[in-house]
Amino acid sequence: MAGMKTTISVIKADVGGYVGHSSMHPDLVAKANEMLEAATEKGRLVDFHVTSCGDDLELIMTHNKGPEAPDIHKLAWDIFLAGTEIAKKLGLYGAGQDILKDAFSGNVKGMGPGVAEMEFTERKSEPIIVFMADKTSPGAWNLPLYKMFADPFNTAGLVIDPSMHEGFNFLILDVLQSKEIMLSAPDELYDILALIGSHSRYMIKAIYRRADGEIGASASTQKLSLIAGKYVGKDDPVLIVRSQSGLPAVGEVLEPFAFPHIVEGWMRGSHNGPLMPVSFEDATPTRFDGPPRVIAAGFQVTDTHLIGPVDMFDDPGFDMTRDKANEIGEYMRRHGPFEPHRLPADQMEYTTLPSVLARMKDRFKEAK
Ligand code: F6R
Ligand code: MG
Ligand code: MG
Repeated sequence: MAGMKTTISVIKADVGGYVGHSSMHPDLVAKANEMLEAATEKGRLVDFHVTSCGDDLELIMTHNKGPEAPDIHKLAWDIFLAGTEIAKKLGLYGAGQDILKDAFSGNVKGMGPGVAEMEFTERKSEPIIVFMADKTSPGAWNLPLYKMFADPFNTAGLVIDPSMHEGFNFLILDVLQSKEIMLSAPDELYDILALIGSHSRYMIKAIYRRADGEIGASASTQKLSLIAGKYVGKDDPVLIVRSQSGLPAVGEVLEPFAFPHIVEGWMRGSHNGPLMPVSFEDATPTRFDGPPRVIAAGFQVTDTHLIGPVDMFDDPGFDMTRDKANEIGEYMRRHGPFEPHRLPADQMEYTTLPSVLARMKDRFKEAK
């Protein structure tokens, strides 16, 4: 409908893995499809697509209710509760892992699931890419988002498309202090990099075109560790990127993933490893519970409907990246329990260090 804004809500949770933390049982996907179909028939949303990446159930939904719509969040929450019930019956691993609260209170934020949402007035054609990753954290998007929206060596359009030439604003979250800051590229590139290079603390939350404020990207930045007051699980992230006609082209959006950069989250949330872009079919991390991986679902959004998806990393153009990721993965693995494969002590999901230190307290003598 003319004038009506379209909202995309991508809400995900791990409510049980199959087998271990590696993959998704088809019954959970079927249940999500069934519940979203029923909700669509009732007019609660317009369109949807259900998929999975590793052990995460991914709900991609379109509607006209704006971000943080209580009804959409409630729907997702109810699907995760229903999924948890199935996971319990099947004895799936970590059933209800991301369900951190008992009662729904209007918004899934802070309750365990991850959320990326954006609202816009549809252009004549609206290509979007939804990225979904497993065994990593939202900080994994920092490097690719920087390349997409600020690096002319990646995005030719920053130099040669007049509508992108003014650059983009980056909304960056400090997850430790729960504060956010808007910085402008290209003027403040060095400041942006000073922050987002520390990707376990500073995470890009959203990106807007400077010329007119149009939204270009929106990421999930819930940090389960902070939500729960202690590290309780993965915050495997999702990201929505709009593309073309004055925004990075589809190829410019995907190109940063041709470099398998090092991200945190592999094995026990406590190891660094390369982010491997894979097809939907290969989104099953089994080597040392990894390596971390990312899938990309491409859609045309038309009249609030999702036309797609196209499996964007199902392209031999990324074969070299996957080979490189395997080579880097192997190299990192050989470090075993040593940093930088193992994360610094304060960032590990699991750590025995405090109890080891407590046990040894009296055995430490003054160094001579
Ligand atoms: C990593 C991940 C897995 C688990 C590992 C141990 O993000 O989810 O690597 O951390 O399989 O899981 P538990 O402690 O549940 O046996
Ligand atoms: Mg899991
Ligand atoms: Mg996961």
